[in-house]
Amino acid sequence: MRKGLLISFEGLDKVGKSTQVDRLMEHLTEHRKLNPILVREPGSTEVGEKIRDILADPALKGKISPLCEFMLYSASRAQLVTEVISPKLSAGELVIADRYYDSSSAYQGFGRGISLEFINKVNATVTLDLVPDLSILLTVENFVSESRKKPDRFAPNLFDDRLEQEFMDFRKKVQQGFLEIAQKEPARFLVLDANEKREQLAKKIAARVDKLIKEKS
Ligand code: TMP
Repeated sequence: MRKGLLISFEGLDKVGKSTQVDRLMEHLTEHRKLNPILVREPGSTEVGEKIRDILADPALKGKISPLCEFMLYSASRAQLVTEVISPKLSAGELVIADRYYDSSSAYQGFGRGISLEFINKVNATVTLDLVPDLSILLTVENFVSESRKKPDRFAPNLFDDRLEQEFMDFRKKVQQGFLEIAQKEPARFLVLDANEKREQLAKKIAARVDKLIKEKS
C-alpha cells in the first residue's frame, strides 16, 4: 500500500535540472529536517547503473535502436521501482526522482517516434502504476543555443551540420512532448521556465513541495 510521496523532475538535458534537484534536497534535509530518498534515471540500483553505462557508452553511440533504447530505460526503471521506489513509498518515505517515466514518453515517444500507446502501457507496467504526486518540468525557450554550447554524453556526436541539425530537431520534439504531457495533467505538473534565476526557481519548487507535504500529512 502506498503511503509516501513521489516527486519527479523532468526536462531537456542541460536546463539546470540537477541543480534544482540538489536545491530541493537541501531544502528538505536542512530546513525541513526530512530524510528524502534521491534516485536518478537511468540508474540508482546496481543493475540500473550498469544499464546507464551501456546507454552512455561512447562506443555504442548511434548503434542502439530506438526500441532497444526504450527497453533499456524501461528495464532500469522496472528494477528501480521494484527495488527502491515502491518499498520506500510503502514505508511512508519521500522519494525524489531525477527523471521518471515522462522522460521515456518525451524522448522515446515524441522524440524517437515510438508509439505512445505502447510506451504508456510499458510505463504503467514497469512503474506498478506508481504516478508521481508532483512532477516538476523545467522548460527552455532557447534550447537550441543551450544544446549547441554543451553537447552531452547521451547525445550523438555533433561532428557535422546534418547531425547537429538532427539533434536540434530531436530536442525540439522532446521539449514539445514534455509540454504536451504536462498540459494533459495540469494538476500533477509544476511547469517552470528554466531561464528564471536559480534562486527564484528553487523558492517556487520548495513552496510547492512544502504545500504538498502539508496537504498529505
Ligand atoms: P541526465 O542524467 O542528465 O538526466 O541524462 C539522462 C539522459 O537519458 C538524458 O539525455 C535523457 C535520457 N533519457 C531518455 O531518453 N529516456 C528516459 O526514459 C530517461 C529516464 C532518460
